[in-house]
Amino acid sequence: MSSESNIVYLNGQYLPVEEATVSVMDRGFLFGDGVYEVVPVLGKKMLRIDEHLVRLQNSLDRISLSNPHNNSEWASIFSSLLEKNAGQDRAIYLQISRGVHAKRDLSIPAKTDVYPRPTIFAMVLQVVPPDIEVVSAGISVITVDDFRWDACDIKSTSLVANVMLRHQAAQADVEDAILIKNDVVTEGTASNVFMVKNNVLITPPTGQQLLPGITRDLVIEIAKNNAILVEERMIKEAELYDADEIWMTSSTREIAPVISLNGKVVGSGEAGVMWKRVMNLYQQYKQTLCDGS
Ligand code: PDD
Repeated sequence: MSSESNIVYLNGQYLPVEEATVSVMDRGFLFGDGVYEVVPVLGKKMLRIDEHLVRLQNSLDRISLSNPHNNSEWASIFSSLLEKNAGQDRAIYLQISRGVHAKRDLSIPAKTDVYPRPTIFAMVLQVVPPDIEVVSAGISVITVDDFRWDACDIKSTSLVANVMLRHQAAQADVEDAILIKNDVVTEGTASNVFMVKNNVLITPPTGQQLLPGITRDLVIEIAKNNAILVEERMIKEAELYDADEIWMTSSTREIAPVISLNGKVVGSGEAGVMWKRVMNLYQQYKQTLCDGS
């Protein structure tokens, strides 16, 4: 992912990024009191937009913030933003915070008070499409203690824990970390985790310990449609060392094969057979969407 878009959306206006500013009293700035979404865009088509908007609604409900727009309004804001920015392989970043309030006070203002209007911000991210050759080289990861809260199903902008966990990976000189809570896998720092064992695709069930990834659901759907066995169940950390394959999935990363875990080789030490198959099917799915068929 590289630089931000030139024209961004802020509270009803489309502005050059340098002119888009938010008050220091914004609760998103002071408390991380907000939620976000990242929606991949292929050409002009938004990938799984409905599913992203359902997850957005869930995040908003969980933090008791009303959705400021209906789905068709969101779609038209995103389309206008895409039109105003050049590029082909992109993603929409949307963030909604609880807005600006006069006092720095954790309490959510009562509806009867001067209720802050949410701050709505969207920009276009330029996403470098994963080059299959490069991706198939795989990534190295470590396991780290998942010390986050029990509300990881909220796509919250409070991401300092994820920043710290990603930093642990960087300090260990690897690309990412698999998070472990009570001896079981939750997710990655910004992705979901899959394991392949004896041709079965296994991923932890959704719940409050992890974000219900849209890519995760798509991978499961594609696998099931192609007669690949899928199990949604807890994965013990110890099982990872015995896995045939491990993958990390997200909207921007798609499906990344893990070839080294805590310095130990995963499976054959190369992107696996199942990864090649599912990655191929995933690319076909994207192509079909682009072609509009
Ligand atoms: N992150 N888990 C976490 C903690 C994430 O931040 C993400 C995505 C995922 C995968 O979700 P999806 O498949 O819907 O992208 C799982 C986005 C890409 C981000 O923060 O940039």
